[in-house]
Amino acid sequence: MLQTERHFFAPGRVNLIGDHTDYNGGLVFPAALNMGTYLTVSKSDNDKLCHFSSENDTITFELDTSTLQRQNAWVDYPLGVFKEFADQGYLTSGYKFHYQGNLPIGASLSSSASIEMVTAVAINAIHDNPFTTLELVQMAQHAENNFVGMNCGIMDQFASGFGQKDCAIALDCNSLNYEHVPLEMQGLKFIITNTDKKRGLVDSAYNQRRAECQQALALLQAHTPIDNLCQLTVQQFDELAALLSGNILKRARHAVSEHARVKEAVTALKQGDMSHFGLLMNDSHNSLRDDYEVSCPELDFLAEQAQQFKGVLGSRMTGAGFGGCTVTLIQENQIDAFIQQMGDAYQQHFNLKADFYIAEIGPGAKEV
Ligand code: GLA
Repeated sequence: MLQTERHFFAPGRVNLIGDHTDYNGGLVFPAALNMGTYLTVSKSDNDKLCHFSSENDTITFELDTSTLQRQNAWVDYPLGVFKEFADQGYLTSGYKFHYQGNLPIGASLSSSASIEMVTAVAINAIHDNPFTTLELVQMAQHAENNFVGMNCGIMDQFASGFGQKDCAIALDCNSLNYEHVPLEMQGLKFIITNTDKKRGLVDSAYNQRRAECQQALALLQAHTPIDNLCQLTVQQFDELAALLSGNILKRARHAVSEHARVKEAVTALKQGDMSHFGLLMNDSHNSLRDDYEVSCPELDFLAEQAQQFKGVLGSRMTGAGFGGCTVTLIQENQIDAFIQQMGDAYQQHFNLKADFYIAEIGPGAKEV
Protein backbone atom coordinates (compact mmCIF):
# COMPACT_ATOMS: atom_id res chain seq x y z
CA MET A 1 0.00 0.00 0.00
CA LEU A 2 1.02 3.54 -0.64
CA GLN A 3 1.13 5.76 2.44
CA THR A 4 2.78 8.92 1.16
CA GLU A 5 3.92 10.46 -2.08
CA ARG A 6 6.15 8.19 -4.16
CA HIS A 7 8.27 9.10 -7.17
CA PHE A 8 9.15 7.07 -10.25
CA PHE A 9 11.13 7.58 -13.44
CA ALA A 10 11.28 5.74 -16.76
CA PRO A 11 13.65 6.74 -19.56
CA GLY A 12 13.15 7.20 -23.27
CA ARG A 13 15.64 5.54 -25.57
CA VAL A 14 17.78 6.21 -28.57
CA ASN A 15 18.16 3.29 -30.93
CA LEU A 16 21.77 3.22 -32.13
CA ILE A 17 21.10 0.75 -34.95
CA GLY A 18 18.44 -1.84 -35.82
CA ASP A 19 15.14 -0.27 -36.76
CA HIS A 20 12.05 -2.18 -37.81
CA THR A 21 13.75 -5.43 -36.88
CA ASP A 22 12.10 -5.98 -33.49
CA TYR A 23 8.75 -7.23 -34.80
CA ASN A 24 10.61 -9.31 -37.39
CA GLY A 25 12.33 -11.32 -34.68
CA GLY A 26 15.65 -9.53 -35.16
CA LEU A 27 18.32 -7.73 -33.18
CA VAL A 28 18.09 -4.15 -31.95
CA PHE A 29 20.66 -2.01 -30.17
CA PRO A 30 19.01 0.76 -28.15
CA ALA A 31 20.25 2.66 -25.11
CA ALA A 32 18.14 4.28 -22.36
CA LEU A 33 18.46 8.06 -22.16
CA ASN A 34 18.64 10.08 -18.99
CA MET A 35 15.60 11.96 -20.32
CA GLY A 36 12.21 10.43 -19.73
CA THR A 37 9.00 10.60 -17.73
CA TYR A 38 8.71 11.32 -14.02
CA LEU A 39 5.64 10.22 -12.11
CA THR A 40 4.50 11.29 -8.66
CA VAL A 41 1.86 9.05 -7.09
CA SER A 42 -0.19 10.08 -4.08
CA LYS A 43 -3.48 9.02 -2.48
CA SER A 44 -6.57 10.68 -3.90
CA ASP A 45 -9.36 11.95 -1.62
CA ASN A 46 -11.84 9.58 -3.20
CA ASP A 47 -11.11 5.83 -3.07
CA LYS A 48 -13.08 5.07 -6.23
CA LEU A 49 -11.30 7.54 -8.46
CA CYS A 50 -7.93 7.74 -10.13
CA HIS A 51 -6.74 11.11 -11.21
CA PHE A 52 -4.26 11.79 -14.05
CA SER A 53 -2.51 15.03 -14.76
CA SER A 54 0.41 16.17 -16.85
CA GLU A 55 2.38 19.32 -17.37
CA ASN A 56 2.97 18.87 -21.08
CA ASP A 57 -0.63 19.68 -21.79
CA THR A 58 -3.59 20.53 -19.65
CA ILE A 59 -5.54 17.27 -19.82
CA THR A 60 -6.63 16.43 -16.33
CA PHE A 61 -9.50 14.14 -15.57
CA GLU A 62 -10.70 11.48 -13.27
CA LEU A 63 -12.32 8.15 -13.96
CA ASP A 64 -13.47 4.97 -12.36
CA THR A 65 -10.87 2.34 -13.21
CA SER A 66 -13.53 -0.30 -13.67
CA THR A 67 -14.67 1.53 -16.81
CA LEU A 68 -11.32 1.72 -18.56
CA GLN A 69 -12.04 3.11 -22.01
CA ARG A 70 -9.81 4.60 -24.65
CA GLN A 71 -9.92 8.40 -24.59
CA ASN A 72 -7.88 9.22 -27.75
CA ALA A 73 -5.51 11.33 -25.67
CA TRP A 74 -2.08 10.90 -24.02
CA VAL A 75 -3.81 9.38 -21.03
CA ASP A 76 -4.45 6.25 -23.12
CA TYR A 77 -0.84 5.22 -22.42
CA PRO A 78 -1.32 5.05 -18.64
CA LEU A 79 -4.89 3.81 -19.00
CA GLY A 80 -3.76 0.92 -21.20
CA VAL A 81 -1.31 -0.10 -18.49
CA PHE A 82 -4.00 0.25 -15.81
CA LYS A 83 -6.13 -2.11 -17.88
CA GLU A 84 -3.29 -4.64 -18.16
CA PHE A 85 -3.01 -4.71 -14.37
CA ALA A 86 -6.80 -4.81 -13.93
CA ASP A 87 -6.98 -7.80 -16.31
CA GLN A 88 -4.49 -9.61 -14.05
CA GLY A 89 -6.61 -8.89 -10.99
CA TYR A 90 -4.85 -5.73 -9.81
CA LEU A 91 -7.47 -3.04 -10.10
CA THR A 92 -5.90 0.23 -8.98
CA SER A 93 -8.02 3.09 -7.75
CA GLY A 94 -7.83 5.93 -5.29
CA TYR A 95 -4.60 7.50 -6.51
CA LYS A 96 -3.37 10.66 -8.15
CA PHE A 97 -0.87 10.16 -10.96
CA HIS A 98 1.02 13.26 -11.95
CA TYR A 99 3.31 13.01 -15.00
CA GLN A 100 6.14 15.30 -16.00
CA GLY A 101 8.62 14.67 -18.75
CA ASN A 102 11.67 16.11 -20.42
CA LEU A 103 11.60 14.08 -23.63
CA PRO A 104 10.38 15.68 -26.84
CA ILE A 105 6.96 14.12 -27.51
CA GLY A 106 6.45 12.02 -30.63
CA ALA A 107 10.08 12.49 -31.69
CA SER A 108 11.06 8.81 -31.96
CA LEU A 109 12.75 8.77 -28.54
CA SER A 110 10.00 6.63 -27.00
CA SER A 111 8.09 9.15 -24.97
CA SER A 112 5.09 6.77 -25.11
CA ALA A 113 7.03 3.77 -23.86
CA SER A 114 8.47 5.84 -21.02
CA ILE A 115 4.95 6.86 -19.91
CA GLU A 116 3.83 3.23 -20.08
CA MET A 117 6.86 1.93 -18.22
CA VAL A 118 6.78 4.56 -15.47
CA THR A 119 3.11 3.72 -14.95
CA ALA A 120 3.82 -0.02 -14.90
CA VAL A 121 6.64 0.31 -12.37
CA ALA A 122 4.49 2.53 -10.15
CA ILE A 123 1.39 0.30 -10.19
CA ASN A 124 3.62 -2.68 -9.56
CA ALA A 125 5.12 -0.89 -6.53
CA ILE A 126 1.65 0.00 -5.21
CA HIS A 127 0.82 -3.72 -5.22
CA ASP A 128 4.18 -4.75 -3.67
CA ASN A 129 5.84 -5.82 -6.93
CA PRO A 130 4.03 -8.96 -8.11
CA PHE A 131 5.55 -8.71 -11.63
CA THR A 132 9.13 -8.96 -12.94
CA THR A 133 10.66 -6.26 -15.13
CA LEU A 134 10.19 -8.44 -18.20
CA GLU A 135 6.52 -8.95 -17.37
CA LEU A 136 6.10 -5.18 -16.96
CA VAL A 137 7.77 -4.61 -20.34
CA GLN A 138 5.41 -7.12 -21.95
CA MET A 139 2.36 -5.59 -20.27
CA ALA A 140 3.42 -2.12 -21.48
CA GLN A 141 3.88 -3.35 -25.05
CA HIS A 142 0.54 -5.17 -24.89
CA ALA A 143 -1.13 -1.96 -23.65
CA GLU A 144 0.24 -0.05 -26.63
CA ASN A 145 -0.78 -2.78 -29.09
CA ASN A 146 -4.25 -3.44 -27.75
CA PHE A 147 -5.38 -0.30 -25.98
CA VAL A 148 -3.65 2.46 -27.95
CA GLY A 149 -3.77 0.52 -31.25
CA MET A 150 -0.11 0.93 -32.26
CA ASN A 151 1.21 -2.46 -33.30
CA CYS A 152 4.74 -1.76 -31.97
CA GLY A 153 7.43 -4.31 -31.24
CA ILE A 154 9.07 -4.77 -27.86
CA MET A 155 12.21 -2.63 -28.28
CA ASP A 156 11.09 0.65 -26.71
CA GLN A 157 9.49 -0.76 -23.58
CA PHE A 158 12.41 -3.17 -23.17
CA ALA A 159 14.99 -0.40 -23.43
CA SER A 160 13.05 1.71 -20.94
CA GLY A 161 12.78 -1.22 -18.52
CA PHE A 162 16.27 -2.70 -18.86
CA GLY A 163 18.44 0.38 -19.45
CA GLN A 164 21.82 0.51 -17.76
CA LYS A 165 24.12 3.50 -17.30
CA ASP A 166 26.63 3.93 -20.16
CA CYS A 167 25.55 0.68 -21.84
CA ALA A 168 23.57 -0.12 -24.95
CA ILE A 169 21.34 -3.20 -24.97
CA ALA A 170 21.92 -5.86 -27.61
CA LEU A 171 18.49 -7.46 -27.60
CA ASP A 172 17.42 -10.46 -29.63
CA CYS A 173 13.71 -9.79 -30.04
CA ASN A 174 12.98 -13.40 -30.91
CA SER A 175 14.43 -15.08 -27.82
CA LEU A 176 14.45 -11.93 -25.64
CA ASN A 177 18.05 -12.77 -24.71
CA TYR A 178 19.97 -9.58 -24.15
CA GLU A 179 23.35 -8.24 -23.21
CA HIS A 180 24.42 -4.87 -21.82
CA VAL A 181 27.31 -3.67 -23.96
CA PRO A 182 29.47 -0.91 -22.39
CA LEU A 183 29.72 2.19 -24.57
CA GLU A 184 33.44 2.84 -24.55
CA MET A 185 33.38 6.02 -26.54
CA GLN A 186 37.04 6.94 -27.20
CA GLY A 187 36.36 10.68 -27.25
CA LEU A 188 33.19 10.25 -29.31
CA LYS A 189 29.57 11.02 -28.47
CA PHE A 190 26.19 10.14 -29.86
CA ILE A 191 24.32 13.33 -30.64
CA ILE A 192 20.60 13.30 -31.33
CA THR A 193 19.12 15.84 -33.75
CA ASN A 194 15.40 16.41 -33.67
CA THR A 195 13.84 17.42 -37.02
CA ASP A 196 10.96 18.95 -35.10
CA LYS A 197 8.83 17.83 -38.01
CA LYS A 198 5.31 17.09 -36.87
CA ARG A 199 4.63 13.49 -37.76
CA GLY A 200 1.29 12.51 -39.19
CA LEU A 201 -0.19 9.05 -39.72
CA VAL A 202 2.83 7.31 -38.23
CA ASP A 203 0.78 4.59 -36.61
CA SER A 204 -1.03 3.59 -39.79
CA ALA A 205 2.15 3.66 -41.93
CA TYR A 206 3.93 1.66 -39.23
CA ASN A 207 1.17 -0.92 -39.05
CA GLN A 208 1.23 -1.13 -42.86
CA ARG A 209 4.99 -1.86 -42.90
CA ARG A 210 4.43 -4.53 -40.32
CA ALA A 211 1.70 -6.10 -42.44
CA GLU A 212 3.98 -6.04 -45.51
CA CYS A 213 6.63 -7.96 -43.55
CA GLN A 214 3.97 -10.50 -42.56
CA GLN A 215 3.09 -10.96 -46.24
CA ALA A 216 6.75 -11.46 -47.14
CA LEU A 217 7.12 -14.00 -44.35
CA ALA A 218 4.05 -15.95 -45.47
CA LEU A 219 5.36 -16.11 -49.06
CA LEU A 220 8.79 -17.29 -47.91
CA GLN A 221 7.36 -19.80 -45.46
CA ALA A 222 5.75 -21.65 -48.36
CA HIS A 223 9.31 -22.55 -49.41
CA THR A 224 11.43 -22.51 -46.29
CA PRO A 225 10.74 -23.32 -42.63
CA ILE A 226 11.25 -20.01 -40.83
CA ASP A 227 9.34 -18.32 -38.01
CA ASN A 228 10.42 -14.79 -38.79
CA LEU A 229 12.29 -12.81 -41.47
CA CYS A 230 15.38 -12.15 -39.39
CA GLN A 231 16.13 -15.86 -39.15
CA LEU A 232 17.50 -15.59 -42.69
CA THR A 233 21.07 -14.57 -43.44
CA VAL A 234 21.55 -12.06 -46.23
CA GLN A 235 22.82 -14.86 -48.47
CA GLN A 236 19.84 -17.13 -47.73
CA PHE A 237 17.53 -14.21 -48.40
CA ASP A 238 19.18 -13.45 -51.73
CA GLU A 239 18.58 -17.03 -52.81
CA LEU A 240 14.87 -16.72 -51.98
CA ALA A 241 14.39 -13.14 -53.11
CA ALA A 242 12.84 -14.11 -56.46
CA LEU A 243 9.77 -15.28 -54.52
CA LEU A 244 9.05 -11.66 -53.61
CA SER A 245 8.56 -8.50 -55.62
CA GLY A 246 7.87 -4.78 -55.31
CA ASN A 247 7.46 -3.28 -51.87
CA ILE A 248 7.19 -6.66 -50.20
CA LEU A 249 10.67 -7.54 -51.46
CA LYS A 250 12.11 -4.23 -50.31
CA ARG A 251 10.60 -4.40 -46.82
CA ALA A 252 11.89 -7.93 -46.25
CA ARG A 253 15.32 -7.05 -47.65
CA HIS A 254 15.60 -4.22 -45.15
CA ALA A 255 14.65 -6.43 -42.20
CA VAL A 256 17.19 -9.11 -43.11
CA SER A 257 20.04 -6.71 -43.92
CA GLU A 258 19.38 -4.52 -40.87
CA HIS A 259 19.51 -7.54 -38.58
CA ALA A 260 22.89 -8.46 -40.09
CA ARG A 261 24.12 -4.88 -39.60
CA VAL A 262 23.18 -4.89 -35.91
CA LYS A 263 25.12 -8.10 -35.39
CA GLU A 264 28.14 -6.56 -37.07
CA ALA A 265 27.76 -3.28 -35.21
CA VAL A 266 27.65 -4.95 -31.78
CA THR A 267 30.86 -6.81 -32.64
CA ALA A 268 32.46 -3.61 -33.92
CA LEU A 269 31.62 -1.79 -30.70
CA LYS A 270 33.01 -4.60 -28.57
CA GLN A 271 36.22 -4.49 -30.59
CA GLY A 272 36.42 -0.70 -30.29
CA ASP A 273 36.08 -0.31 -34.06
CA MET A 274 33.98 2.85 -33.99
CA SER A 275 34.69 3.72 -37.63
CA HIS A 276 33.07 0.50 -38.73
CA PHE A 277 30.17 1.12 -36.37
CA GLY A 278 29.68 4.52 -38.03
CA LEU A 279 29.67 3.07 -41.55
CA LEU A 280 27.02 0.57 -40.52
CA MET A 281 24.91 3.46 -39.21
CA ASN A 282 25.12 5.10 -42.64
CA ASP A 283 24.13 1.85 -44.37
CA SER A 284 21.23 1.48 -41.98
CA HIS A 285 19.96 4.94 -42.90
CA ASN A 286 20.17 4.15 -46.61
CA SER A 287 18.21 0.95 -46.16
CA LEU A 288 15.51 2.65 -44.06
CA ARG A 289 15.28 5.36 -46.72
CA ASP A 290 15.34 3.22 -49.86
CA ASP A 291 14.00 -0.22 -48.92
CA TYR A 292 11.79 0.43 -45.92
CA GLU A 293 10.77 3.93 -47.06
CA VAL A 294 10.23 5.34 -43.59
CA SER A 295 12.55 8.33 -43.86
CA CYS A 296 11.53 11.82 -45.01
CA PRO A 297 13.35 14.80 -46.59
CA GLU A 298 14.15 16.32 -43.19
CA LEU A 299 15.71 13.13 -41.82
CA ASP A 300 17.59 12.52 -45.08
CA PHE A 301 18.98 16.05 -45.05
CA LEU A 302 20.18 15.79 -41.46
CA ALA A 303 21.67 12.31 -41.86
CA GLU A 304 23.33 13.00 -45.20
CA GLN A 305 24.75 16.39 -44.20
CA ALA A 306 26.00 14.90 -40.94
CA GLN A 307 27.72 12.04 -42.76
CA GLN A 308 29.81 14.67 -44.62
CA PHE A 309 30.61 16.68 -41.51
CA LYS A 310 34.15 16.80 -40.12
CA GLY A 311 34.56 14.42 -37.18
CA VAL A 312 31.39 12.43 -37.89
CA LEU A 313 31.74 8.65 -38.13
CA GLY A 314 28.13 7.84 -38.97
CA SER A 315 24.58 9.16 -38.92
CA ARG A 316 21.12 7.68 -39.32
CA MET A 317 17.47 8.19 -38.55
CA THR A 318 16.42 6.48 -35.34
CA GLY A 319 13.13 4.87 -34.37
CA ALA A 320 10.00 4.46 -36.44
CA GLY A 321 10.80 7.28 -38.91
CA PHE A 322 8.59 9.70 -40.89
CA GLY A 323 10.07 12.49 -38.77
CA GLY A 324 11.57 12.43 -35.31
CA CYS A 325 15.32 12.29 -34.80
CA THR A 326 18.65 11.28 -36.25
CA VAL A 327 21.51 9.90 -34.18
CA THR A 328 25.07 10.80 -35.12
CA LEU A 329 28.39 9.42 -33.91
CA ILE A 330 30.77 12.35 -33.66
CA GLN A 331 34.08 13.41 -32.16
CA GLU A 332 33.36 15.33 -29.00
CA ASN A 333 35.51 18.30 -30.03
CA GLN A 334 33.37 18.85 -33.16
CA ILE A 335 30.05 19.02 -31.36
CA ASP A 336 29.83 22.81 -31.01
CA ALA A 337 30.59 23.36 -34.69
CA PHE A 338 28.13 20.60 -35.61
CA ILE A 339 25.27 22.14 -33.64
CA GLN A 340 25.96 25.59 -35.04
CA GLN A 341 26.43 24.68 -38.69
CA MET A 342 23.87 21.88 -38.97
CA GLY A 343 21.31 23.99 -37.12
CA ASP A 344 21.84 26.89 -39.53
CA ALA A 345 21.77 24.73 -42.67
CA TYR A 346 18.61 22.94 -41.54
CA GLN A 347 16.87 26.18 -40.66
CA GLN A 348 17.74 27.62 -44.06
CA HIS A 349 16.57 24.57 -45.96
CA PHE A 350 13.33 23.74 -44.15
CA ASN A 351 12.60 26.83 -42.11
CA LEU A 352 12.51 24.60 -39.05
CA LYS A 353 14.61 24.73 -35.92
CA ALA A 354 16.45 21.51 -35.15
CA ASP A 355 17.07 20.60 -31.52
CA PHE A 356 20.22 18.82 -30.39
CA TYR A 357 20.72 16.53 -27.40
CA ILE A 358 23.99 14.89 -26.48
CA ALA A 359 22.94 11.37 -25.54
CA GLU A 360 23.57 10.63 -21.87
CA ILE A 361 22.90 6.95 -21.27
CA GLY A 362 21.22 6.14 -17.98
CA PRO A 363 19.45 3.40 -16.02
CA GLY A 364 16.03 1.83 -16.67
CA ALA A 365 12.63 2.48 -15.05
CA LYS A 366 12.68 2.67 -11.26
CA GLU A 367 11.40 4.28 -8.09
CA VAL A 368 13.43 7.38 -7.28
C1 GLA B 1 8.85 2.23 -32.89
C2 GLA B 1 8.29 0.95 -32.25
C3 GLA B 1 9.39 -0.07 -32.01
C4 GLA B 1 10.25 -0.29 -33.26
C5 GLA B 1 10.67 1.05 -33.87
C6 GLA B 1 11.37 0.87 -35.19
O1 GLA B 1 9.69 2.89 -32.00
O2 GLA B 1 7.65 1.25 -31.04
O3 GLA B 1 8.83 -1.28 -31.56
O4 GLA B 1 9.60 -1.10 -34.19
O5 GLA B 1 9.57 1.92 -34.07
O6 GLA B 1 12.55 0.19 -35.01
